[in-house]
Amino acid sequence: MKTMDWDFNNQVILITGGTGALGSKVSETFLDFSPKAIIITFRSETEMQELRTKIFDRRNKEQKENHHTLIEFMKADITHEDEVKKLISNILEKFDQVHVLANVVGGYIGGKSVSESSEEEWDKMMLINLKSAFLISKHVLASMKKMHFGKIVHVSSATGAKANGNDSAYAASKAGLIRLVESMAEEVRGLNININCILPTIIDTESNRAAMPTANFSTWIPPEELAKVICFLSSEDSKVITGVALPTRGTS
Ligand SMILES: NC(=O)c1ccc[n+]([C@@H]2O[C@H](COP(=O)([O-])OP(=O)(O)OC[C@H]3O[C@@H](n4cnc5c(N)ncnc54)[C@H](OP(=O)(O)O)[C@@H]3O)[C@@H](O)[C@H]2O)c1
Repeated sequence: MKTMDWDFNNQVILITGGTGALGSKVSETFLDFSPKAIIITFRSETEMQELRTKIFDRRNKEQKENHHTLIEFMKADITHEDEVKKLISNILEKFDQVHVLANVVGGYIGGKSVSESSEEEWDKMMLINLKSAFLISKHVLASMKKMHFGKIVHVSSATGAKANGNDSAYAASKAGLIRLVESMAEEVRGLNININCILPTIIDTESNRAAMPTANFSTWIPPEELAKVICFLSSEDSKVITGVALPTRGTS
């Protein structure tokens, strides 16, 4: 259900990690605004097929205006620069430009003190939460700078602003992402490019419910609500907001 009239009509939207729990809601929400094209990156064929089926089933049922939107699924591991370069050059070849990047790629390893954590776990958090954001931003920004237009939204975490303990690698990687966002936003000042991130607390996903079955799910944030915030930060209604890490912790 479209809630606002944000205009993405002539825009090309890139959603990295767009088939995951939050990413699939972000993809579906952008689709409600009938952009020119949506490129959804994925790693898992199963995740991609699930979302593809859902989107096309919905298209077939609803005679909606979003039928003109071109939807492309592109496989990419965005922790490798060669794959990121190839992804962006494929997109630019087909669509000329990327107006919006919603980078939802990320992951969590926690529940261990620093002394219990391995070097491999540390590296993995830095890779998927921080290096991924650096690489995709670097290559998308090159074309946004030429256009003098762009919106980038990354997904950090409340833990990136204040760690809870037993989450050092995750917290450090998400804190690094906040500083990366601030630095990039300053670098492109004057070029009509907004770069921000959101700081979710626990998101109400299937995998979180399975991992914490006795928790009070009503205090968790519905992914649909975060998707709307990401769309807002990608819209012209938020053009005065850049370089921020926006808390999205809800009211519970
Ligand atoms: N869930 C929460 O409670 C929570 C709270 C705060 C912040 N966040 C952040 O919110 C974002 C989405 O979380 P989520 O719960 O939706 O997680 P998710 O379901 O695991 O989605 C993450 C997506 O990123 C993809 N991905 C991971 N590594 C990748 C890589 N190297 N290259 C390309 N794609 C990659 C995953 O693909 P695969 O399935 O192939 O791994 C998956 O599609 C993440 O940045 C996460 O850190 C989540």
